[in-house]
Amino acid sequence: MNPRHLVIALAFNVLLLTQALADAPIIIKFSHVVARDTPKGKAAERFKELAEATTKGRVKIELYPNSTLYKDKEELEALQLGAVQMLAPSLAKFAPLGVKEFELFDLPYIFPDKAALDRVTDGPIGRDLLKKLESKGILGLAYWDNGFKMMSSNRPMHVPADMKGLKMRIQASKVLDEQMRVLGANPQVMAFSEVYQALQTGVVDGAENPPSNLYTQKMYEVQKHLTVTNHGYIGYAVIVNKKFWDKLPAEIRTQLDGAMKEASKYADAIAQQENDVALEAVKKSGKTLIYTPTDKEKAEWRKALLPVQKTMEDRIGKALIESVNKEAAR
Ligand code: LMR
Repeated sequence: MNPRHLVIALAFNVLLLTQALADAPIIIKFSHVVARDTPKGKAAERFKELAEATTKGRVKIELYPNSTLYKDKEELEALQLGAVQMLAPSLAKFAPLGVKEFELFDLPYIFPDKAALDRVTDGPIGRDLLKKLESKGILGLAYWDNGFKMMSSNRPMHVPADMKGLKMRIQASKVLDEQMRVLGANPQVMAFSEVYQALQTGVVDGAENPPSNLYTQKMYEVQKHLTVTNHGYIGYAVIVNKKFWDKLPAEIRTQLDGAMKEASKYADAIAQQENDVALEAVKKSGKTLIYTPTDKEKAEWRKALLPVQKTMEDRIGKALIESVNKEAAR
């Protein structure tokens, strides 16, 4: 080929390639550890639908549920390295990043009800907490609900004393560690994806979960007893790699923000119902006996666990715990 034609052909190819790159969708890999059929799993799917529709396909959300891509600790590292762009870890999992204030959400009985929780996450306390992630290269986009946790194991747990000596799986949170210790149980930190097998093989005796997680991970098959303690909360922060987000075209960011707002409303609207349905399904399975403590027993659980709020003041901050309690009591 004559050199002039060669240059023209090359230039043409570069043009085609540039155009193809410009037309290629922006891929957002969204990894999480729970089943699709949970409040978080369903909200992630809703976000995908909304985001792809509002950006008219310029953004493609690839969902990786059930730890198919990464387990708990790995996914946070992967986000910081840019191997995935979006996650929704439970709030109990942020302390290992160096933001231990998030462990306030693990404090037993800190939220008397969902309305109290919403006042905290929707208000300045929730906003300030998300801000703290920025120095870690992470941007917090939203809070998503799951629900209140219940204790499960292979022996009846009517009162706190029944927890003595049980090996209990916990998330990597010092508050949860302390919570199990004051009950006389032995806490064991473990990735969510490993809990079913650990329960099945007796590596641990029990766990604490909202019913949606217990049911969808089939833990009820290997746990004979579940007590409706509702002693603590599990919810999520949807987070993105900040560098990735900041580089997106402004218009796309606005569209994704809108999709996230809608998906978050949906998440909060379905969470309670998903947990109610899951608890009913566990009951129907006949494999796990569900026990609801009497008022007197509930008071015993509270009395045993409330001191954790005090013990954890040094770690989380006395003023922060006080402001959450104040907000909760409004
Ligand atoms: C757990 O590890 O128990 C939960 O954080 C799982 C989840 O994401 O709901």
